[in-house]
Parts: sequence; structure tokens; C-alpha cells
Amino acid sequence: TGLVTLDPGFVNTAACSSEICFIDGEAGILRYRGYPIEQLAERSTFIEVSYLLIYGELPNQAQLDEFASKISRHTLLHEDLKRFFDGFPRDAHPMPVLSSAVSALSTFYQDSLWPFDQDQVEISTIRLLAKLPTIAAYAYKKSVGQPFLYPDNSLGLVENFLRMTFGFPAEPYEVDPDLARALDLLFILHADHEQNCSTSTVRLVGSSEANLFASISAGINALFGPLHGGANSAVLNMLEGIRDSGGDVGSFVNRVKNREEGVKLMGFGHRVYKNYDPRAAIIKKTADDILGRLGGDDSLLHIAKELEAHALADDYFVERKLYPNVDFYTGLIYRAMGFPTKFFTVLFALGRLPGWIAHWREMMNDPATKIGRPRQVYTGHTEREYVPVADR
Ligand code: CMC
Repeated sequence: TGLVTLDPGFVNTAACSSEICFIDGEAGILRYRGYPIEQLAERSTFIEVSYLLIYGELPNQAQLDEFASKISRHTLLHEDLKRFFDGFPRDAHPMPVLSSAVSALSTFYQDSLWPFDQDQVEISTIRLLAKLPTIAAYAYKKSVGQPFLYPDNSLGLVENFLRMTFGFPAEPYEVDPDLARALDLLFILHADHEQNCSTSTVRLVGSSEANLFASISAGINALFGPLHGGANSAVLNMLEGIRDSGGDVGSFVNRVKNREEGVKLMGFGHRVYKNYDPRAAIIKKTADDILGRLGGDDSLLHIAKELEAHALADDYFVERKLYPNVDFYTGLIYRAMGFPTKFFTVLFALGRLPGWIAHWREMMNDPATKIGRPRQVYTGHTEREYVPVADR
């Protein structure tokens, strides 16, 4: 019935209009609400960028203070939600722990189930921004068998997260300002990226009028995949694999070009960027600096740079316009900060959260929104007669 257009992967199909994020993939431009990512990375903070994405404008000082103080008042998890972590196996991957705990927020805040009340959406927004770092830190603590720390609300969002992750209950924890600033910067760079897989998932789930927690939980699961947020862990595993098999970058690149099963250059390529990913450019510039200060693993950074140089000089990658993306260098930095490889995608989720929230809110307020319901091109059998099991 009617003409449908087949577009696997939505290569050409826009599902919504949006005012939040602008990407020019050919020119390598990224702007949040009109502000170039380079300026935000250099001059803004993650909390300010979160406000900008969600509310559309940079806050003045009073607005920023109020936003930060509201978030700091909601960082605690309900004691029953804390017990939730006991039910997972000790070696559980932290991404499904994260999405499960976010999904469970709907059971603790059942008023959130009606997503049309503006005050309700506002408090759910604050709760999510405040509690996701606590949930993430507890997922880490659970995996290393260490006790949970209550948040210290005199600290900023990133500092609080670092303390809850790496601190111990009876010991003072000095937040390293270089480390906190570096993580804040990485969160800014991940904060939004228009209709990527996880954000589209948040919108699709939300389009059925599912609440904010349910929609974001779905987005976290979409981010988990190695072609999306999971790529940052995959890059580090790839670099270690190259190192452990003798460090021959050229032969690894050949395996990629020969399309060996499951061998891709992780952290390379992008659906929209056909030029250097501007986020990767910023990260690369700061990687040396940060790794120098935090004492990163130089051998892996060396392999990464060699791999990049090799690929950028090779026709296979040049013809396909494959450049490093945001995930290529982040893993090295996260590792130098002390995070285990398994945890990297959780850090991506913490950064992307304000973007997901902004898109969910924009969608709910857009009169043009309809339930997401793609069509298909049917290629199965035409009508057949049912055959009883004894006759098959
Ligand atoms: N290594 C080797 N070849 C590649 C790669 C890669 N990383 N990426 C794309 N190609 C090739 C692909 O085989 C295809 O070649 P051909 O036309 O000869 O078949 C061509 O380049 C076009 O690729 P595509 O698969 O049609 O591109 P896509 O837009 O569907 O996929 C992508 C985009 C990001 C999933 C893909 O580039 C990829 O798998 N990259 C590795 C994973 C990764 O780094 N993901 C992080 C993306 S950025 C942050 C985020 O979204 O989380």
C-alpha cells in the first residue's frame, strides 16, 4: 500500500527537525546550539554545556548556580536502589548495570510515568543528571569489590564522581584538578551528536510516550554496541592486541584491508564525518599533554599514532574517507586516569546524558512528533496454505 522508500540504516532519512546540534560532516564542523565545539571545549564546563543543551541558552551565573545546586541535592540513591547492585554477578559489565539501574528509577519515582507534566519532567531531568554519576561509580565499586561512598555534595559533579569511584569511605580523597578538568572536557565533547544510534533510540522509545528513565535506559543499551559507544573499549583492546602480537602496525592494517572476519580499524570512520572528526582533533591535541601529566602508557599512544599515520596515507582509507573518530584516542586517556577498559563506555554515557535528555524533551514538546513507526519492504512468502504438523 503506497510507495515506501527503502533506506537501511537511515542514511538519507531525517526522522525529525531539531535545534540542538549541527554537524557538517564534509567540513568537520560540530556546534551545540550554535556554539562551536572548539570554543565550548576550551572555555565552558560540562555542567554549563548540559544547561545549554537542555534549555537552549547558556545560563547566567544565577541560573548556573541554581542548576548546579539542584543537581547536587539529588545525587543520593535510595537505599533500596543501592541494594540492587548486590544482585549482579561481581564481574558484571557495568553498561547493563547502568541501564538496569536507570530503568529501575521509574519504580522509585512513579510520578515520572506521566511524561507530560513540565514540573515532573524537570525533576526527572535533575534526578537523572544527579544520579547517573552515582550509579556509574557504584557499578565500578561493585566490580572491584569495594564499599560504596555516599556523594559529597560540596564537590562539583565531575569531582564527586571521581571521589565516589576512586575514593574510600574512611580516607580523605584529594581530587586531582588536572584529572577532573580532563574528564570534564571529555564529557563536553561527548555531550551531544544529533541523531546518532542511541539518541535516535531515546527518541523512538520516547515517541511511544514512554517516560524519560525508560527512554534513557534504552539509549544506554544502544550505546553499548561496539560500532557506537562500545568503540572506545574496542580501540584499546585493538591497540593491546597489536602490541602483544609484536607491534606490527602495517600487518594489522593489511588485515583490515583484506576484510578479515571481525577485523576493523576501531575508532575510525563515521556515518556523517567524511573529514577529521573535530572532537578527535581536540582530543588528540590534549592526549599528549594529559598522558604526560597522568603518566599514560606511551607504547600504546605510539601504536595509535603510527596506526593513524598509516591509515591516513593509505588509499583504502583515503578513498572511503575514513578518519579517526572521537573514540580513537579517548580510551588511552581514560586508561591513564585509572579506569578499566570495561568502564570506558560508561564514561561516554555520562557525557551523552544531557544530549539524550535535550532530545527527549525537544521531541515531547514538538507538535509534529508522531509515534516512531518505520515501514518495511516485505520480501517473505506470498499467501500459503497451513499444513498440519503430521503432513510436514
Ligand atoms: N575500518 C575499516 N573499514 C571501514 C571502517 C573501519 N573502521 N569503517 C568503515 N569502513 C569501510 C566499510 O567497510 C565500507 O567499505 P566498502 O564501501 O568497500 O564496503 C566503507 O568504509 C563505508 O563504511 P560503512 O560501513 O558503509 O559506513 P557506516 O556509515 O555504515 O558506518 C561506522 C559507520 C562508524 C559504524 C563504521 O565506520 C565503523 O564500524 N567504525 C568502527 C567503529 C567505530 O569506531 N565506531 C565509533 C563511531 S564514532 C562515535 C560513536 O558513534 O559512538
